[in-house]
Amino acid sequence: MTALSSRYPLVAVVAMAKNRVIGDGQQLLWHIPGDLPRVKAFTMGRPLVMGRRTYQSIGRPLPGRANIVLTRQKDWQADGVITVHSMEDAILAAEDWIDADADRTKEIIIFGGGDIYAAFLTSLHAIDLTEVDLAPEGDATFPALNPDEWTEVRRQHHAATDGGISFDLVRLERS
Ligand SMILES: NC(=O)c1ccc[n+]([C@@H]2O[C@H](COP(=O)([O-])OP(=O)(O)OC[C@H]3O[C@@H](n4cnc5c(N)ncnc54)[C@H](OP(=O)(O)O)[C@@H]3O)[C@@H](O)[C@H]2O)c1
Repeated sequence: MTALSSRYPLVAVVAMAKNRVIGDGQQLLWHIPGDLPRVKAFTMGRPLVMGRRTYQSIGRPLPGRANIVLTRQKDWQADGVITVHSMEDAILAAEDWIDADADRTKEIIIFGGGDIYAAFLTSLHAIDLTEVDLAPEGDATFPALNPDEWTEVRRQHHAATDGGISFDLVRLERS
């Protein structure tokens, strides 16, 4: 797939297990203290592009960010959501939202889930990855990356404490 053109960088934010599982369509597969506030801070003031299934798993629009939801259902809508039906329209909606207010950060967050990460993979500029030291069952996964295309620019290991889960915070940038 050829990369989509975008005036602002596209950055995927994802928490992925060792087996690349990101979700099972039902419940959260892990709880990492501090990760949700970190994702909140990292995405605030930015437009989020997500699939309809991810939106429904969250169940509400996330405040302080545009909630741009991709669906092929022409009549689907939800309060506080910008509904789009193509990847190109998702990018245009995100650019318009950024341009409407000078305080907004000029970066588009690709927020998942598996279908959306796969669809936007060739267009991503960077990936903010939480690598979780688990291998749960689940049907949504983050796509395999070609190592020639990505450079790891940062990795912070967080050891498990008090029976918790260890994880790495990783930043990948397109080579
Ligand atoms: N761990 C993480 O960081 C993370 C992040 C996000 C999500 N998740 C998990 O991922 C799972 C959901 O992922 P998923 O792969 O099942 O679904 P998804 O990517 O969230 O959504 C898929 C839906 O998006 C719409 N869609 C996809 N491509 C489209 C296109 N090109 N044009 C228009 N609409 C399009 C379709 O909606 P319609 O069916 O309505 O047409 C499709 O069914 C959940 O378990 C969630 O919790 C995990």
